[in-house]
Amino acid sequence: MSTELTWYGHAAIGLKTGGFNILVDPFITDNPAATVNADQLKPDFILVSHGHGDHLGDTVSIAKRTGAMVISNHEICGWLAKQGVKTHSQHIGGGHKHPFGYLKFTLALHGSGLPDGSCGGNPVGFLITTNDGKKIYLAGDTGLFGDMRLIGEEGIDLAALPIGDNFTMDPFDALRAVKFLTPKHVIPIHYNTFELISQDADSWSSQVTKETGATVHVLKPGDKFSL
Ligand code: NI
Ligand code: MN
Repeated sequence: MSTELTWYGHAAIGLKTGGFNILVDPFITDNPAATVNADQLKPDFILVSHGHGDHLGDTVSIAKRTGAMVISNHEICGWLAKQGVKTHSQHIGGGHKHPFGYLKFTLALHGSGLPDGSCGGNPVGFLITTNDGKKIYLAGDTGLFGDMRLIGEEGIDLAALPIGDNFTMDPFDALRAVKFLTPKHVIPIHYNTFELISQDADSWSSQVTKETGATVHVLKPGDKFSL
């Protein structure tokens, strides 16, 4: 059983594992980098890391069309439930066995206000253990924090890390994050969507390859990676 990751640009990621489709931070319609239409996506579960529009994205319309369950923090789930969306809420440090695997919420240093000004609780990252034991860390929007070492102690097979700067880690801090996390594979995200977060992912990849044991996969929006 393999897990297939699709990067839709920005922080939007699809995961296909054990017959389940999971969509993470589905910013598709207003995402200038996206190569798909939101209507083409048929997730069973949607994970939302925080309330910002470039992560919440098309969550409500996709969840209503497909009946997908949205997993997020308590505040975002409450806001979504009022709009008729099926939800499961968790919080940082807490994990739950879902049909696709075990999902734990991790710390993320960021904000989480919802588009209408409602409180979106605390931003989170996701640590997924697939049913065949692969560990996937999706950092969400975050600055660097030393406790990434603790996440690394779990043994990360694949990490998706923001490198765009301005709102999240820059390439230098993302390199330090790789050293803390020691993942086998790493994918840079949250860059080149807009001018403000433009970065040279290939030069970051060379640096990471030189200084760590991780294998970097620089994807183009729409590209897939099989774990
Ligand atoms: Ni954000
Ligand atoms: Mn963001």
